[in-house]
Amino acid sequence: MAENGLARRGKVLTLDSLNPFVKKVEYAVRGAIVTRAVQLEKELQQGVKKPFTEVIRANIGDAQAMGQRPITFFRQVSALCMYPDLLNDPNFPEDAKQKARRLLAACGGQSVGAYSASPGVEVIRQDVARFIECRDGGIPSSPENIFLSIGASDAIVTILKLLVSGEGRSRTGVMIPIPQYPLYSAALAELNAVQINYYLDEDKCWALDVGELRRALRQAREHCRPRALCIINPGNPTGQVQSRQCIEDVIHFAWEEHLFLLADEVYQENVYAEGSQFHSFKKVLFEMGPKYSESVELATFHSISKGFVGECGFRGGYMEVINMDPAVQQQLTKLVSVRLCPPVTGQVLLDVVVNRPQPGDPSYQQFSQEKQAVLSALAKKARLTEETFNQAPGIHCNPVQGAMYAFPRIYLPPRAVQEAKAKGQAPDMFFCLKLLEETGICVVPGSGFGQKEGTFHFRMTILPPLEKLEVMLQKLSQFHARFTKEYSELQAQG
Ligand SMILES: Cc1ncc(COP(=O)(O)O)c(C=O)c1O
Repeated sequence: MAENGLARRGKVLTLDSLNPFVKKVEYAVRGAIVTRAVQLEKELQQGVKKPFTEVIRANIGDAQAMGQRPITFFRQVSALCMYPDLLNDPNFPEDAKQKARRLLAACGGQSVGAYSASPGVEVIRQDVARFIECRDGGIPSSPENIFLSIGASDAIVTILKLLVSGEGRSRTGVMIPIPQYPLYSAALAELNAVQINYYLDEDKCWALDVGELRRALRQAREHCRPRALCIINPGNPTGQVQSRQCIEDVIHFAWEEHLFLLADEVYQENVYAEGSQFHSFKKVLFEMGPKYSESVELATFHSISKGFVGECGFRGGYMEVINMDPAVQQQLTKLVSVRLCPPVTGQVLLDVVVNRPQPGDPSYQQFSQEKQAVLSALAKKARLTEETFNQAPGIHCNPVQGAMYAFPRIYLPPRAVQEAKAKGQAPDMFFCLKLLEETGICVVPGSGFGQKEGTFHFRMTILPPLEKLEVMLQKLSQFHARFTKEYSELQAQG
């Protein structure tokens, strides 16, 4: 009995009673290393002396948090939709006002504060379909197959939910790349699906090899029922851009093996390397002819968080589903309706991204200058990152062909590996934590994304402003050299 006479009651929800699949979820991009980075920032604010004056968060692909300015036109239309009185303000360009009026007219009560239809505002779905058609050289896209979402993450999880079923050996298996973006492993853990790893080939610039897909599938069939194959192109964390041939091979493989394809194409506008080009899975599928285009089930994902847009906080995105069984598509519509609708402000922002200013529009020139400035700075930073790391002994970095990250391989002395293991830490986590403590640079250990046994990496965004990135790359390389020397000497001393 407690002092107040009431029997002491334990919590209903404890770690023991918690959904065990939630416990299995891990998400490295915002994991232990970031918790420590936040603490360090607080300590700096309190005046605690550190060997650095600021923490640089290169752990997450959040462009505006790294100082990227929003594209003016996107924010003008958003502002007008949020506060329509501004439609009378002469400082806003006429094309922004026209877009805002059209969007408001499509919202319930002409307000972004009203719920929308569950798959999204109809007009915006039409605009998304037109954007896809234009991107894919006229291959038709239907608004009926477009579902707007709370960022791409939400859409990806929704499709995975549809795919998961069975128990024991008939449990759904989902093939994901390794290294992968940890949303996939986290969602599969939460849904209690089987994660099937296929390894990207680091020695071939992180290429995807169909032979490796076959190996992974064959082994997985012994303990689960593989139903889906996820592709991230351009890749996160690996930054590779797939060739058209590779995409064809993957589609053929999915057709042969009867797998549902998920193509995560959120970095489709982030391609930098000469000779690299983005090919959408949808376009390649249709160009392969009716044998494939009428049968392979495909969901593709896009987002306003990436590209030159970087509006992560608005939480906008969409998916297009192709060849989905109509009865299943009805179930999908039902499932999204339970959550009412994605934020309408995010939908509005998505609309301006897909229905952007065109030559001749009053805002075109400023828009295209701003867009080019972001993309060319990213291209420059991608090259600089690769070059700087490859000059550092013990670090090897594949070309950052696309996306927003470098995923360099680091060589760690055996003594450091031993010490990490003794502390129960992955060796690259040990390295990244020390890096953070000594330099204030926050990157994510490769172990959070998956990597070949015995190899170590970290993921770093290329988003910091150029001057900051230059300093950061130098500091990182120097730290790696010091770390290697220190642990090699310890080893030599026995
Ligand atoms: C490959 C990939 N897919 C999906 C997402 C999710 O993006 P969002 O939910 O912000 O649209 C990200 C975010 O970093 C990503 O890198």
